[in-house]
Amino acid sequence: MTKRRVAILISGRGSNMAALIEAAQAKDYPAEIVLVVSNIAGAGGLAIAQRAGIATATVESKPFGKDREAFERKLQETLLAHGIDLVCLAGFLRLLTPWFVGQWEGRMLNIHPALLPSYRGLHTHERALADGVKIHGATVHFVVPEMDSGPIVMQGAVAVRDDDTPERLAARVLDVEHRIYPDALRLVASGQTRIENGVCRTSAKGSPDDALIAPAVI
Ligand code: GRF
Repeated sequence: MTKRRVAILISGRGSNMAALIEAAQAKDYPAEIVLVVSNIAGAGGLAIAQRAGIATATVESKPFGKDREAFERKLQETLLAHGIDLVCLAGFLRLLTPWFVGQWEGRMLNIHPALLPSYRGLHTHERALADGVKIHGATVHFVVPEMDSGPIVMQGAVAVRDDDTPERLAARVLDVEHRIYPDALRLVASGQTRIENGVCRTSAKGSPDDALIAPAVI
């Protein structure tokens, strides 16, 4: 099996990155994490990646100011130098230009802490609680120029509880993120996904039939 070469782009603590690194240690995993790039110097995730023996790079976005594409050209050079096949955004706090997204069309994933297309953007957990939704979750999707859009590869849901705070809800959603991101990358890297009319289809089987109903009436 030829493993796909994956770069993870981060800006912060890198817990999703860590979940991907851990999953990719399995012999039968179809991808290897060969590079972690941060746009913020000293991002917490860099140390985790280094401890796992993974090459890291910092391409700071700040010095480029508003010139997004100049930053991305430098980032792209770094990715090409490492022979990257697939890019995973994992808490990468930087809007990407259509140029960069175009370079990685169909080969770049993102994880978003909400059930897209609901709650694009920031503060998803606060907004979900304010709306009183009963089910919330996370989404792994292919990246397209429009933010938090693009074909959905996988979603995971949690029940929202009456006594939830944004922090408590975020923690349960984060657990789900750490499960679905490695699974979604497995699907994509093993060629089990295809995009038809902007929708991601998969040949993977095994979605459970049971519904998540919240709140449960006992
Ligand atoms: C996650 O909630 C992810 O969904 C969002 O940013 C956060 C990153 O957390 N895109 P971490 O750096 O992976 O811990």
